[in-house]
Amino acid sequence: MATVDPRNDVLHVVGGEPLHGSIHVRGAKNLVSKAMVAALLAPGVSVLKNVPQIRDVQVVSDLLRLHGVAVDVDEVAGVVTIDAQRVQLADVADVDTLSGSSRIPILFSGPLLHRLGEAFIPALGGCNIGGRPIDFHLDTLRKLGAKVDKEHEDGIHITAPDGLHGAKIHLPYPSVGATEQTLLAAVQAEGKTELSGAATEPEIMDLVAVLQKMGAIISVDVDRTFRIEGVKELKGYVHTSLTDRIEAASWASAALATHGDIFVQGATQPEMMTFLNVFRKIGGQFDITDEGIRFWHPGGDLKPVAIETDVHPGFMTDWQQPLVVALTQAKGLSIVHETVYENRFGFTKPLVQMGGTIQLYRECLGSLPCRFQQHNYKHSAVILGPTPLEGRDIDVPDLRGGFSHLIAALTASGPSTVHGISLIDRGYEDFRDKLTALNARVD
Ligand code: EPZ
Repeated sequence: MATVDPRNDVLHVVGGEPLHGSIHVRGAKNLVSKAMVAALLAPGVSVLKNVPQIRDVQVVSDLLRLHGVAVDVDEVAGVVTIDAQRVQLADVADVDTLSGSSRIPILFSGPLLHRLGEAFIPALGGCNIGGRPIDFHLDTLRKLGAKVDKEHEDGIHITAPDGLHGAKIHLPYPSVGATEQTLLAAVQAEGKTELSGAATEPEIMDLVAVLQKMGAIISVDVDRTFRIEGVKELKGYVHTSLTDRIEAASWASAALATHGDIFVQGATQPEMMTFLNVFRKIGGQFDITDEGIRFWHPGGDLKPVAIETDVHPGFMTDWQQPLVVALTQAKGLSIVHETVYENRFGFTKPLVQMGGTIQLYRECLGSLPCRFQQHNYKHSAVILGPTPLEGRDIDVPDLRGGFSHLIAALTASGPSTVHGISLIDRGYEDFRDKLTALNARVD
């Protein structure tokens, strides 16, 4: 796996100038990585297009290669070709070198159980935005007939000596990852699987499209129940990933916060409808074309909003952080109730140090049912704007929080130094070049 060049880990930003120009957003990190795992199910060749150059793609490529799978990445064309004709058990020590790098490895469980009868999953990484347990994943695998051994200190050993069998599964919360886990494990399980309480994010539906191309039989009801009829064999696929709606919305928030005007080539309307409604309510303007969406600040005051994050089709938790920066520039009190992660407001501390007025509350400031109601988590934020921001030294805490800090630095007057910036490479392709293309003063 590529190591981080320290020279790429710090960004000097001189803010206060509107971002304007055009950038291209490619495939969704949260589909591409899973579609690459799905390729493991078929003893054949799969081709995935519109793949961005981001670190999660490297991590999944490396993990596939450790399992004997041939992966060819054409970074410029954005095409990944995966030949999973041959799959073998990876050396545990080798797999361990990838521990802590991503949350995707847990999704290797089902495909590896089908191909090899066992899987070793390294300790997981991902953003530090809450406990992020994997109990739903492991319960699902157990229900399908897997044996899960958590005794290994560096990871989890999973076996299925008698193969996987269809089961009735209910998720206590519509987890994206646990839904994908079930789909990837149940497609080739013997018999039928019913998964209720599932998540239906656009990236999940695109994964279902990939699996259908491979030969799977999966239907979904309006009440978010998936029905999967196990099939014996799957074949390789050719698929073009849907666009990254999180990256697109992040640039839209950057346009709003900096009084800018950004055309996000590749952005698509259907997956962004909920975001677009909120963007319009705040006073941002957008124009949807066949090539992408132009987002801009029309001048005058931005309006405050009250939003609650939720599973699809609600307002995505990953949209929340960049938008909060724009809300520091809206006139009045905005409220954000985070119902997906218990600890996703840590990134607001540097914003306050830069001059933002943001207060966090343990109470649910909203009406959605929320798992954090009786707990001590500060999961509601009240933002009073507009407040001028001033540049400073910032340490990037996680992927989306880090991008939000970058937006704050671009909005602020004066210079900022953003440390740990390479974390953002996990999910934002070529963001340094894109910033330069948008006339940002960064080096
Ligand atoms: C996916 O994470 C995304 N990551 C996240 O994006 C995204 O924020 C999240 O879905 C929600 O949309 C990827 O797709 C790689 P979850 P995932 O399982 O699947 C709890 C980004 O920045 N839970 O839907 O890990 C969990 O703690 C990332 O791109 C359990 O309790 O999220 C959380 O509170 C950040 N037990 C909630 O469910 C479990 O076994 C939702 O998590 C699994 C989850």
